[in-house]
Amino acid sequence: MDGTGVRYNDEQYHFQVSRLSTVDKIRIQGGRRLSGRIPISGAKNAALPLMCASLLTEDTLTLVNLPHLADISTLATLLAQHGVEIGMDGHASGGHTGRALKLTAGEITNTTAPYDLVRKMRASVLVLGPLVARTGKARVSLPGGCAIGARPVDLHLKGLQALGAEIDLQQGYIEARAPGGLKGGRYVFPSVSVGATENLVMAAALAEGETVLVNAAREPEVVDLCRCLKAMGAEIDGAGSDTIRIHGQKNLAGTTYPVVADRIEAGTYAIAAAITGGDVELVGVKLAMIEALAKQLAEAGVAVTATAEGVRVSGSNGVIGTDVITEPYPGFPTDLQAQFMTLMTVAEGASMITETIFENRFMHVPELSRMGANITVHQSSALVRGVKKLNGAPVMATDLRASVSLVLAGLAAEGVTEVNRVYHLDRGYERIEEKLGACGAAIERVRPAVAADE
Ligand code: EPZ
Repeated sequence: MDGTGVRYNDEQYHFQVSRLSTVDKIRIQGGRRLSGRIPISGAKNAALPLMCASLLTEDTLTLVNLPHLADISTLATLLAQHGVEIGMDGHASGGHTGRALKLTAGEITNTTAPYDLVRKMRASVLVLGPLVARTGKARVSLPGGCAIGARPVDLHLKGLQALGAEIDLQQGYIEARAPGGLKGGRYVFPSVSVGATENLVMAAALAEGETVLVNAAREPEVVDLCRCLKAMGAEIDGAGSDTIRIHGQKNLAGTTYPVVADRIEAGTYAIAAAITGGDVELVGVKLAMIEALAKQLAEAGVAVTATAEGVRVSGSNGVIGTDVITEPYPGFPTDLQAQFMTLMTVAEGASMITETIFENRFMHVPELSRMGANITVHQSSALVRGVKKLNGAPVMATDLRASVSLVLAGLAAEGVTEVNRVYHLDRGYERIEEKLGACGAAIERVRPAVAADE
């Protein structure tokens, strides 16, 4: 136990405490060409809503192929304090050998998601829909802004109101009530939101009657959630399109479900191959899931092909500057914008990178500039003029994808790069130093002596 009611075995407990060090650094000696195979983990952004779906049933939901990440542990802690019993053990099923997380919400003992846990991870707001659908009430701290933008949750709230929930904001908390249960409704999203779509799909799965969500998010992680809910007994049509219809059920049942592969992790390693002029096979991901990136890489002169087990990326011909604009799926993902910009810093020619999803997602720019990149930001666009080489430097970033973009820069740079604030990486990249190291990168996690007894 870690004091939160979550049970871990010894190995997982070690993972829990050892991976979350705030003082670790990643040190990279740049200039090595990557070559080999990288296994792609289950997707963080699919796993988090799937874990919240466990609140919808008193039976056990077993999630297989779950990534070992700090965010998963944070959400497990939150779910445990709602009364979910959580067990982790070794598991191999349907070709998936990742460990399984067993979540059983036999009884919801507490419907409050406190500020102290929600502020650590915004995805905690995904307990709102399931809690109010199952128990008729929920009190969830407002997550607040984060490093990449203001990130309001108004669409989650308006959508729940369309299903009959009464919502008040009280002292920083969302208070939602539906004493007679939620009722199916129609909600047209004014703009696409992944999280709000997921919250509403989960809420609608236990609402009375039919719900129609228009302009819904089409991300593979939304589709994965819908597939799992269907396996739990939900009736859902249209997942993956912009209109999702959900016919609510009185109860849902447990199931065993494998988390879809992480397309953002795969895309990040695809760029790692490209930026080092390497040749890497990404095992366990389908080309269709990273199609927007593959198209951009092809335009930049990087070969991306489907293989029997995944996707092969070969960057041996160098890269050419190409413009990118981030969009909701199936457009180019905002979660790969920082990584792609890093690739463009060493491309031949210039590229324009436009971020349309978040208002403050260029925090990697000043750090890349310190490494010798030539980037000019004007409002939501960055003009990147390719340079011959980057130079290693100590760097740090304030969010997950910005941090990993600096790792990519370090792989390509001349000399040594030290990426600080590794805890950002540990939120979303499982064993990054091992995966890159196995392909020939000179990369290590450095743990200062003071933390060595962990
Ligand atoms: C998900 O965040 C991902 N997180 C993000 O991954 C990802 O960047 C984002 O989708 C976009 O693809 C998880 O899945 C856990 P949104 P989410 O609601 O759901 C605005 C990563 O690095 N908006 O689709 O929070 C919002 O401010 C991350 O892994 C509202 O205005 O994103 C943003 O500008 C970070 N009101 C845009 O919509 C709302 O109620 C898209 O946000 C909700 C969102």
